[in-house]
Amino acid sequence: MNTGFSSNLAGTKLPHAARGPLRALIVEDSEADFDLIVAMLAGAGWSVEAERVEERAAMRNALATGKWDVVIADHSLPRFSGNEALQLTSDCGTDAPFILVSGSIGEDAAVAALHAGATDCINKASLARLAPAVERSLAGVEARLERRKAERALRDSLDRLTALVNASPLAIIGLDLERRVTLWNPAAERIFGWTQTEVLGRNPPSVAPAQRDDFQRYQDLAISSGSVEAETRRVRADGSEVEISLSVAALHDDEGRAIGTIALIADIGDRKRAEREITESREQLRALSAHTGKAIEAERARIARELHDQVGGTLTALRSELDGLRKRIDTDPALAKRVQSMDKLIDTAMTASISMSRSLRPSMLDHGVYPALEWQAREFEERTGTHCRVTCNDEEASLDMEQSTALYRVFQEALTNVAKHAKAGRVTVELFISASTVTLEVRDDGCGLAGGALGKRESFGVRGMLERVRGLGGWLDVSGQPGDGTTLMVSIPRRKPKSPKAGT
Ligand SMILES: Nc1ncnc2c1ncn2[C@@H]1O[C@H](COP(=O)(O)OP(=O)(O)OP(=O)(O)O)[C@@H](O)[C@H]1O
Ligand SMILES: [Mg+2]
Repeated sequence: MNTGFSSNLAGTKLPHAARGPLRALIVEDSEADFDLIVAMLAGAGWSVEAERVEERAAMRNALATGKWDVVIADHSLPRFSGNEALQLTSDCGTDAPFILVSGSIGEDAAVAALHAGATDCINKASLARLAPAVERSLAGVEARLERRKAERALRDSLDRLTALVNASPLAIIGLDLERRVTLWNPAAERIFGWTQTEVLGRNPPSVAPAQRDDFQRYQDLAISSGSVEAETRRVRADGSEVEISLSVAALHDDEGRAIGTIALIADIGDRKRAEREITESREQLRALSAHTGKAIEAERARIARELHDQVGGTLTALRSELDGLRKRIDTDPALAKRVQSMDKLIDTAMTASISMSRSLRPSMLDHGVYPALEWQAREFEERTGTHCRVTCNDEEASLDMEQSTALYRVFQEALTNVAKHAKAGRVTVELFISASTVTLEVRDDGCGLAGGALGKRESFGVRGMLERVRGLGGWLDVSGQPGDGTTLMVSIPRRKPKSPKAGT
């Protein structure tokens, strides 16, 4: 039930520019004073919607509507008072400013009212001050609302930030300029084993004495350059070491002065262990492949020697036996013919044995790498009809046998690839031997490398060459654009031969 008295002067002719609506709750026993107040406000340009109340219950009901822009209260009323009205306004939690209007209030009472939350106190004798006071207090309310909104937004973003810091799988550690912990999130507790309460305000215990220099360096670098990233080690509460990746950034105050650092830290122990295992097994594979390569070369050389010495020797002996026989059976033409055919068979066997022996391990390798490559190039020309020219800056130079064999095998695979893939008309080979390195370049004028050619899972030629060359501490590069030929480059640090003619 509304026991108040209303007045709506919207539409009254106004001396000032219209300001918009003003909903005023006026606590006043005198109807004449109420009208006067409303007229003052309307005169200042507001379209006033006002309600008059003069006792507690009516005021509580009116406040409950929550619609008021301003509460204006007389200081003394017969059944109520300005102070009580002020108390009620504050109890109801309204944001509307409260203006006390009085003819009798003294200075002390006015100050007390202001302390109690009144926005302003106006003397009835100078009611002209009312409109400016309302205007001021409305601006104050607006500023207060704005401030509250900003505070709420700040609180929301702080809440979000706190949730993020708490849920982060990365340790987040804040330090001040004295390197004392200001922030230590749950992930930091999990990774290092100390609780936030144990570390706040202390230097981080996760930095072991031996790690202090390294820690200090990252902090200084972050402050001087803004941020720093690193992989390093720290300790856990149980004394064990933890491998971490660290990203430290400097924190600044409003004036840009550094006030500390914040670090994001991940435990990379598992990753590092996996990386170490991969590196180890790669090294083992490489060693195994080098060992296998050497064993194959040694076996080839042994079989080549057997072919040359045993099979070749036996065939030579067989031929001289046959020669002796031939002298005795010259008189029997049929037998002579059979001996002649046996001679041809021995010839064929000898040629095959020499060719097999050479392809297993060309004896030219014993004369140096250049003669071996040259021989291989002639074989290739004969077999494929593709022109192949080899040049060398030092044809006499001798290399360590393992290096000569490796270069020879790389060259063999390079020529096999030209024959298989390039459709080339010409191959140009340059061997450059200096005191410290040996470089081999094999260039063809064929179809060039198709995209992804070197990544084929089922291809092992280039991979094998690479392994061989890496095993000797060198590098290999295969390049070429489609339609523009292919170039293979190999370079290895040169080793002098242990014994110039030693075979494998
Ligand atoms: N001279 C070349 N001209 C054009 N393409 C080439 C040449 N050399 C290599 N390639 C391309 O690179 C791929 C990889 O060569 P790689 O020697 O590793 O394997 P592959 O010759 O296919 O098989 P293999 O394992 O028998 O050697 C080839 O399949 C081919 O597509
Ligand atoms: Mg190949």
